[in-house]
Parts: sequence; C-alpha cells; structure tokens
Amino acid sequence: MFSTTMPTLKIGDLQAQIPIIQGGMGVGISLAGLAAAVSNEGGIGVISSIGLGLLYPQPGKNFAESNKLALRKEIRKAKALTDGILGLNIMYAITDFDDIVKVALEEELDKTKVLLRKTLVALEKHVQMDIDGDGAMG
Ligand SMILES: Cc1cc2nc3c(=O)[nH]c(=O)nc-3n(C[C@H](O)[C@H](O)[C@H](O)COP(=O)(O)O)c2cc1C
Repeated sequence: MFSTTMPTLKIGDLQAQIPIIQGGMGVGISLAGLAAAVSNEGGIGVISSIGLGLLYPQPGKNFAESNKLALRKEIRKAKALTDGILGLNIMYAITDFDDIVKVALEEELDKTKVLLRKTLVALEKHVQMDIDGDGAMG
C-alpha cells in the first residue's frame, strides 16, 4: 500500500486511504485491471462504462446488449481483484445510460450501491426518469 501523509477521502461511509479518484477513461482504458490496481493502493478505482461493448462483442447481440454484458464482466473481474473501493463512470449523455445504471445497481459495486442510489434519486428528480423501474418518476 502507498504510504502518504495526505488526508483520507471520506464519501458517505466509505473511506479511501489516499484521496485519489482515478479518472474514467472509456473505450478500454479504465477497465477492471486499472481500477483494481488503484483500489488496491488505497484510492478509488473507476471502471468506465463507455464503449465496453466494443471489447466484448457478442455474436447476435446488439451494441447495447454487448455493453451491458461487458460491464457485468468488468465489474465482476474488478471485484475479484480487490477488496478496496471501486466506482463506475457512466456518462449521462449516452443513450443506454439507464440500462448501464441498472446493471451497476444489480452488480452492487461495494457500498457504491448506496451512494449510487442517493445520486440517482437526485438525478431522477432532476431529469424525470424512472431509473429503478418502480413506475415513479422524480
Ligand atoms: C482516453 C480518454 C478517455 C476518456 N474517457 C472518459 C469517459 O469514458 N468518461 C468520462 O467521464 N471521462 C472520460 N475522459 C476524461 C477523463 O476522465 C478526465 O476527466 C480528463 O482526462 C480530465 O482529467 P484531468 O483534469 O485530471 O486531466 C477520458 C479521457 C481520456 C484521456
């Protein structure tokens, strides 16, 4: 583990030993390996959800379906590589934003589920969308 005098980073009930959140870099850079490495050093490792379907093309499946499957694989791979804190970068502008959010919630990135939910509640109110499929919007 990296030794430092820097302050820890507290987000909700999560505490990163070093105050670094790795950038989400899509299309195959911020994948499980990088995220787990950062997380293992005490920072917050981030998987980018952008363009994952390109890396794991699924025969007979469209790009959105490939994206979802690939995201599940990367999250599971990262969780197997670290017990540290992991996050997920999801760009709101993408068309399958809500599907990606659902996969992230289903895969439970540590306690991120709680943080993500809080964020989503705020977002849901803001954009008037039914993210958790409960029929309620905002
Ligand atoms: C190759 C590359 C891919 C990136 N992909 C994403 C992405 O998928 N999602 C995102 O929010 N930002 C993405 N970014 C932006 C970075 O996460 C980061 O915000 C940006 O590089 C600015 O960081 P800096 O101010 O520390 O230089 C990408 C940046 C690079 C260089």
